[in-house]
Amino acid sequence: MTTGLWIILDHLVALLSIAAWFAAGVALALRRTRLATAVLVAAVLVTLVRVGTVAMLAGRGWWFVQEKVLLGLPMLGAAAAGAVLVAGPRMLAARRGHDDGWSVGGLVSVFTAAYAALAGLVVTFLVGYPLTLSTALIAISLVCAAALLTMRVVAPAAEEAADAGVARAPEGRRAVSRRRFIGWTGGAVVVTAAGAGTGLAFLPTRSVTVGGGPGRSSRAAVSVADLRGSGSPAPGGTVRRHVLTAKKATVRLASGRDIEAWTYNGEVPGPAITAIQGDLIEVRLRNDDIDGGVTLHWHGYDVPCGEDGVPGLTQMAVEPGDEFVYRFRADQVGTYWYHTHHASHIGVHKGLYGTLVVTPRHGQRADGHAAVEQLELTLPVHTFDGSVVIAGSDGRTEHPAPPGTPVRLRLINTDSDPHRIVLAGTPFQVAAVDGRDLNQPGEVSDVGLRLPAGGRYDLKFRMPNTPVALVVDDDHDGGLRLHGGVPGDGRVKDTSALPELDLLGYGAPDAAPFDTRDADRHFTLVLDRGLAMVNGRPAYGQTVNGRGHPSIPDQLVAEGDIVRFAIVNRSLETHPWHLHGHPVLILSRDETPSTGSPLWMDTFDVRPGETWEVAFQATNPGIWMNHCHNLPHAEQGMMLRLRYDGVTTPFGGAHGESQGHGH
Ligand code: C2O
Ligand code: CU
Repeated sequence: MTTGLWIILDHLVALLSIAAWFAAGVALALRRTRLATAVLVAAVLVTLVRVGTVAMLAGRGWWFVQEKVLLGLPMLGAAAAGAVLVAGPRMLAARRGHDDGWSVGGLVSVFTAAYAALAGLVVTFLVGYPLTLSTALIAISLVCAAALLTMRVVAPAAEEAADAGVARAPEGRRAVSRRRFIGWTGGAVVVTAAGAGTGLAFLPTRSVTVGGGPGRSSRAAVSVADLRGSGSPAPGGTVRRHVLTAKKATVRLASGRDIEAWTYNGEVPGPAITAIQGDLIEVRLRNDDIDGGVTLHWHGYDVPCGEDGVPGLTQMAVEPGDEFVYRFRADQVGTYWYHTHHASHIGVHKGLYGTLVVTPRHGQRADGHAAVEQLELTLPVHTFDGSVVIAGSDGRTEHPAPPGTPVRLRLINTDSDPHRIVLAGTPFQVAAVDGRDLNQPGEVSDVGLRLPAGGRYDLKFRMPNTPVALVVDDDHDGGLRLHGGVPGDGRVKDTSALPELDLLGYGAPDAAPFDTRDADRHFTLVLDRGLAMVNGRPAYGQTVNGRGHPSIPDQLVAEGDIVRFAIVNRSLETHPWHLHGHPVLILSRDETPSTGSPLWMDTFDVRPGETWEVAFQATNPGIWMNHCHNLPHAEQGMMLRLRYDGVTTPFGGAHGESQGHGH
């Protein structure tokens, strides 16, 4: 069973235990002693089962259970034991017919167990990892406060009963004064603890984590504004100039449907930018009418930091009427894309994106055309108003491809959710992932590929005599059909049951360019949902180590460091993790090492319950965003910065204005 399923199962058992303890309390309050006894036994059993599910989860990683083991279960265990000891004997006596089994203490203790069970689950949902003293104090005081309140409600009823039953009146009075004492002192303790817990939550936190490496040095500062791209192409290269103007436009899709889009140059996707390795790319970005501003971020392309297009960090957003010129050498070949990085959960979604493809210089003839006549299609996949649009066309696209033609399909997921890709009708290779070639990728067929948000796959095959279909999300009406000349014959078998290709075992291993075993820094990012400050406001956000942007500490690295990340997903959603400026080498997923080709990715899907270990070498100085590429998640707080020692930014405070994907 996957960790994700264990998380869900544990939530269900937790819910069941809450229900059982409350039911026991209610049955007891109604003086249904037999029923109450049975339910109490059930509650104890469910609580024991809960210990089991938490133990199973603990086997998957401490991150998944820390708050359960340190707070939730001890709190519930203590309250449950109290309930059994206080309520149990009276209830057993009642079964033997001595009295009705009801007592103030019994009732309060059973309800306290219910409150403890509830508090445990609430802490898991609202706070999660890491548990803080503040959270523990607040949770415990809330449970105690609820217990005291219950006593206040129940006790008067008990007093009436005691007054009515003359024989037991003196005992009742002693009990009353004892309860008053508990009420007052308990109340005072609870208020103090809750106050202390709340106060602790407002203590300032550190603004940087060092991952086990040295802290900030006093080396001379470099500004990101000075980390700009080269002014000239490599020998033999040319300058590729573009002007991209961001503007609102009505765009007609292939089906004739119109969409109200935000565009570069009135097109969706924006103009395709291509280059041959070594060329200089120079893009002048203008903004006509996109209020709030736009930028260009070169997703997956390791440009110098000053060209990275992050507003408030590497530049200011380009407001209507303004412009910004990006310049960088196209030294890296492969399939990439560009998109705005300002309020990108809105901007990219509405169409502010385009493709960037760089081809190798060798294999080019003098006239700049590829030596082998091959069919290359760049296919950004984007969803507009619920329908999938591939390279600007919705519905099905037909494309001629003479048999024998070498074909390369460059797939780009520009959405915030993963897409499932099936190539039917031919064996093929996944030649490249996120722009980087794989080592000896084997031929596969009848497999599904999961393309993470922001990710790219290059699929390579030789066109057969029969049609080939590219199916996205198992939708057989849409997608792309390649045919030898006669369109229309593109029926495909059901693809939804095809197994998913695991890239961690695909291709042949090769030596890594650096030794990942003794990393200089090791950071752990635990992803979850929870209460956090997000962009200066309290929110139920998407969190990293319990915090939201921009209050997540920056990760500090020094140039040359080997850096390892462990990314842990405690939540029930997928988080496509994306680091700017560096591809990361995938080391393992759920402790199973990557055994295929070295796998370099810039965006990888961390699914619910998964733990990924990745590594990279810090060779591109700057301050880089490190975030979830489900862009609404980034906006809801799941975004932080990786900062090189000695690099500063003039475009925003260290923890100043909303950066990156924010408004
Ligand atoms: Cu493609 Cu910071 O993003
Ligand atoms: Cu996410």
